[in-house]
Parts: sequence; structure tokens; C-alpha cells
Amino acid sequence: MTKKIAVLPGDGIGQEIVAEAIKVIKKLQADGLDVEMNEGLVGGTAYDATGTPLPEETLKLAKESDAILLGAVGGYKWESLDISVRPEKGLLGLRSELGLFANLRPAILYPQLADASTLKPEVVSGLDIMIVRELTGGIYFGQPRGVRTLDNGEREGFNTLVYRESEVKRIAEVAFDIARKRGKKVCSVDKANVLEVTEMWRDVVNELHKDNSDIELSHMYVDNAAMQLVRAPKQFDVMVTTNMFGDILSDCAAMLTGSIGMLPSASLNEKGQGMYEPIHGSAPDIAGQNVANPLATILSVAMMLRYSLDEPAMADRIEKAVEKVLDDGLRTADIYSDGMKKVSTSEMGDAVVAAL
Ligand code: IPM
Ligand code: MG
Repeated sequence: MTKKIAVLPGDGIGQEIVAEAIKVIKKLQADGLDVEMNEGLVGGTAYDATGTPLPEETLKLAKESDAILLGAVGGYKWESLDISVRPEKGLLGLRSELGLFANLRPAILYPQLADASTLKPEVVSGLDIMIVRELTGGIYFGQPRGVRTLDNGEREGFNTLVYRESEVKRIAEVAFDIARKRGKKVCSVDKANVLEVTEMWRDVVNELHKDNSDIELSHMYVDNAAMQLVRAPKQFDVMVTTNMFGDILSDCAAMLTGSIGMLPSASLNEKGQGMYEPIHGSAPDIAGQNVANPLATILSVAMMLRYSLDEPAMADRIEKAVEKVLDDGLRTADIYSDGMKKVSTSEMGDAVVAAL
């Protein structure tokens, strides 16, 4: 049966990079991939057109699809809007409405881009970490939340960090399963020395480890984890953590590779539906200039083929094509270094299609 992909380019460079990913999907369609693509609005672009960053129609389209390809959301233009209608709410709404609780964020150093990292080559060469971030709970969604005015007239802001055992268990299960297909190590990151909720998190992960004893499990406080990521990142295989810690650590891990423009991500629910997007944001400063790196989005299509569309061979083809264009010396501005061939967003997309 024809599988459905909802295509949501979003804001800023989202439009340009998704256009290149569409070229790649079209090439695979010509080679027999049985998918249908339907576009929808999300983020600031959706707000401008409809008054909400997540229109009903988009949510419906997303729910009816096997997979969602998202570009990026946000931009200066919408920063002063009320938080309830900011572009980011479109993304958060999709995550929670579809129950996309498992966010997989790989940080891989491509050997061709070893100089792009700010860290010494011996610290990062061969780096291959998978961050498994809980995505639909924790402080991002906990109630109560808000800003209230106290009797003395002072304002007080508050958010709630809350996890149920079942939420911890299902994300830890994902981490153990992924580790089993990789380096067989999981590091669970918490702040169990201060926060009760993450002390419970640690207990639940330990409990689950009894049924996953083939995997080596360690625990680390988040402050130490941030330090270890920069000091000796290759000690990590799979890291599993809360929504907010994962938000922060995944940016840190991405930058170890020096090329956030190269990193894809997947957000999965219990039904295997997934949303796929580059790790980077909408980069409004370079939007519309045809200079953004489309490779993270193209690699997100590879993750989509692997995790939601059951087409691992096609996923391999995309990943090999990306390696080929890097081997050929093609570089967008963000990963450019002397002696390489600087190309635009669309030239990079065309080169990947040709390499396919
Ligand atoms: C991310 C982003 C989002 C988040 C924002 C845009 C809401 O930083 O996907 O990491 O905080 O989750
Ligand atoms: Mg983030």
C-alpha cells in the first residue's frame, strides 16, 4: 500500500532544505519507492496564513500520514508573539498530539569533515553517539505552568518537572533496544542528587536493566555529562535523558561534529509513526539565500525510510550518496574549508540526486 508522507517545510531555511529532500524522494519514487507526499503549513508561516502555528488541517494530515518530514520553525518575525501562538508551539503540538515520545538524535563525525570540529581530531575522530531524548513529557509539558502575580505585586514564573514511571520505562526501553544494535552501552543522564523526579528516573532505569543485562548501563549527572561530552565524548554510545536535558545535551553533542547542518533526527511514537527533521533550526539570517546545508534534511529522509517506511536499503543508498558528495569535495558554506568546492543548497541537493 502507498505510504503517506506529510511534508511540512515550516519557516526560514526550512523551505529551501525541504525542497532538496523532496528531490531525493522523487528520485526514489522513480526507482520504485511507493509513497505519496502531501504538503502542509506549520510554524510562523502557518500563523501568518491562518492565525495558528498548527492548523487543524495540518494536524489531521500529520495524523493520517505514516511519516512527517519537517524543515524548521521559528524566526525573528514571530519572536514577539504571545508564547501560545509562537512557531515553536506548532512543533511542540505535533510532538504531543502524535505522542512522539522518543527523539533519536545521532551525533556522528563524518571523517571527511574532521576539521570542522572545534575539538582536537583525536578527541572526536570516529565519534558516533545516539542521544535518546524523552520528547513529550518533563518540564516542557508539566502542569502547572505559568506566570502569576504575588500579593506584593512581584511576578513569579513556574514550570513543573514531572515524569511517570511508565514514561521513563518506555523511553529507557527504546534506549536499550537501540544500544543492542550498536555499541551495547547506555548512559542514563539525570540530576538524581537534587531532583526527586530524576532519582525515580534512575530507579526505573535500573529496574528495567534487569531485563536488559546484556547492555552495559551507567548513570551520570547532567552537569558531568555536559563536561564529559566535551572532554571525552567517545566514551558514550547511547545516552538517554529527559526532555530538557536532552534538548541541551543534543546541541552540545551536535557541535562536537562541527557541522550541525549534517545531523538528522527522528521522533517516534508507539505506533512507529515518526517525524523526521534536521537538528538545526530555521536560521532566519541566511533564509532565502540558497546557501543552507540540505544534508541534515536529506539524511532525515534516510532515517524516515529506515524507521517508518521499512526501506532500509533505500536509506543506505541515501547515506552512501551523501558520503559520495562529501568525498567529491562538495561543501555548503557551513562546512566549507580551503581546497573544497563551495556549492549552494540546490547544487548540493542535485549532487546527492546524481549520486543516488
Ligand atoms: C529542539 C528545539 C525545540 C525544543 C524548540 C524549537 C521548541 O530546540 O528541537 O531541540 O526545545 O525542543
Ligand atoms: Mg534544541
